[in-house]
Amino acid sequence: MDESAWAKLKRAAVEARANAYAPYSGFAVGAAVLSKSGRVFTGCNVENASYGATICAERAALAAAVASGDRELLALVIVSGAKRPTPPCGICRQCLAEHGPTLAIRSHAGDAQADYELNSLFPEAFGRSHLD
Ligand code: THU
Repeated sequence: MDESAWAKLKRAAVEARANAYAPYSGFAVGAAVLSKSGRVFTGCNVENASYGATICAERAALAAAVASGDRELLALVIVSGAKRPTPPCGICRQCLAEHGPTLAIRSHAGDAQADYELNSLFPEAFGRSHLD
């Protein structure tokens, strides 16, 4: 993917991060995904007083894409305020694998960035074929 496409996703993720609802952790996260059809969808983390009910930014963006009819994802950008770039959590890796097994991921924290591929972060994923 070219740098201008990454930059567009980053801008969208920064914007979504501003809406993060993170009163318990204080850790605001924004995410933006690019779907196969070329559309961009965003999400932020949405925490809850029942802490385990929290939704991560990545899954919120994924759900926004699916709700709009886009089920195949090509790229994901994560933006947090951490000291170093953060990869997606395990639950998000499982959810993302269903919709983008070769997903390209870029994470930003301040001026630092890191690139990942989902199939390296999450090999041997449990998937639909295991239900056969
Ligand atoms: N969080 C995300 O939204 N994405 C990540 O990749 C890591 C964690 C959220 C969950 C919770 O609201 C807060 O960050 C601290 O874990």
